[in-house]
Amino acid sequence: MNNIAAIILAAGEGTRMKSSLPKVLHPVCGRPMIYYLIGTIKSAGISKIVAVVGHKARLVKDKLGGIKCVTQPEFLGTGDAVLKAKAALMKDKKINTVLILYGDVCLVTAETLSKIIDRHMATRAGCTLLTANMKNPTGYGRIGRSSNKRIIKIIEELDASIYEKVIEEINVGVYCFNKEILFESLGKIKPNERKKEYYLTDVIELLAKSNIPVESVTSNDPEEFLGVNTREDLNKVEQIVRRRALDKITRKGVTVVDPYNTYISEDVIIDKDTIIYPYTFIENDVKIGLNCSIGPFARLRPGTLIDDDVSIGNFVEIVRSRIGRSTKVNHQCYIGDTIIGKNVNIGAGTIIANYDGKNKHNTIIEDNAFIGTGTILVAPVRIGKGARTGAGSVVTKNHNVPAGKTVVGVPARILKK
Ligand code: UD1
Ligand code: CA
Repeated sequence: MNNIAAIILAAGEGTRMKSSLPKVLHPVCGRPMIYYLIGTIKSAGISKIVAVVGHKARLVKDKLGGIKCVTQPEFLGTGDAVLKAKAALMKDKKINTVLILYGDVCLVTAETLSKIIDRHMATRAGCTLLTANMKNPTGYGRIGRSSNKRIIKIIEELDASIYEKVIEEINVGVYCFNKEILFESLGKIKPNERKKEYYLTDVIELLAKSNIPVESVTSNDPEEFLGVNTREDLNKVEQIVRRRALDKITRKGVTVVDPYNTYISEDVIIDKDTIIYPYTFIENDVKIGLNCSIGPFARLRPGTLIDDDVSIGNFVEIVRSRIGRSTKVNHQCYIGDTIIGKNVNIGAGTIIANYDGKNKHNTIIEDNAFIGTGTILVAPVRIGKGARTGAGSVVTKNHNVPAGKTVVGVPARILKK
């Protein structure tokens, strides 16, 4: 698909979100909303993506990593925003087709994108757009069709007459255009009289008037066309993405005892026969093996890697750590920047003191070690194979415990037999 490029419009402030964070960066299930859209475009096989940024452009660019960004200095409407990507796309002679997506319509699927592209190619239309039928279409652009059902224009809410307001077919905000036709027509549109903005949607009427065919694909999946304009919309999207994430891991053979009271970020990988108990919170970049028991009330933060047959109990927080096979961390613990081996028992209330106020340090706990209740391990420190710490001991930094030895007390000292 190296003849197709995608433009994502993400310059808006998202005033209705009432937030200082640009709309497209609002997290959905732990990741910025726009990441979902980028992932979808890539899974549809399109690698050339241009994002139009404007409001807090630096912040958005920084989050977009490798994606090419162009700036829309003034918020002059969706038509103006697309024009800002013109130079970047005209340079690339291979590109003859342009997909346009709005950064706030983030749940559209890769299958739908492929359908739009296929239809566009098959019909050789000037534009193929995604529509949907909605019982309450308030706020969306309505699709105007002629008596023979051809698309002739898109009418925005503010400009719609009472007859047009009852139209239930709406513009989702996903379009596939012939590149030349798109930029030529954009050069001709005039600012909307009421809002003084250049509407991308006005291009449709121009095409229809020039007898350039406009085609459509209709989505029947109400989740797909949800545009995030308010916090309420964001909540809906969050629920949908969380449900999709839970469905995905459930299909892999994981039991989530109480889906309504469990948070699992979208990219978490969990292997089969693991059970997640209620009130567990699992953030990005976490991997859990086979046959584990997690929670209730566990919090697994980014960089947590859990091997098979592990048990993580209540009020345990883990971050940037690896937990080896058959290890148990059952009650009220903090484990940070730690590598724990196989068959280790971490007693109730164990704390890894990984932060000295300036830097974070690592801890290693080797296979078969036994960490007594209420131990504090001050990092950096290493607990050798099969070593033990007594209840309430404080193992100070760099005072590594040799394999097989037991330490007790504050500061911890090796117990002589
Ligand atoms: C838009 C459509 C409407 C459609 C709806 C679907 C237009 C004129 N209207 O309305 O037909 O039903 O989406 O959700 O296109 N943006 C910029 N620069 C701008 C203006 C907007 O980058 O100057 C970006 C916004 O950041 C946003 C997207 O374009 O991601 C859509 O803008 P928004 O103001 O949300 O349009 P809607 O009123 O939702
Ligand atoms: Ca919108």
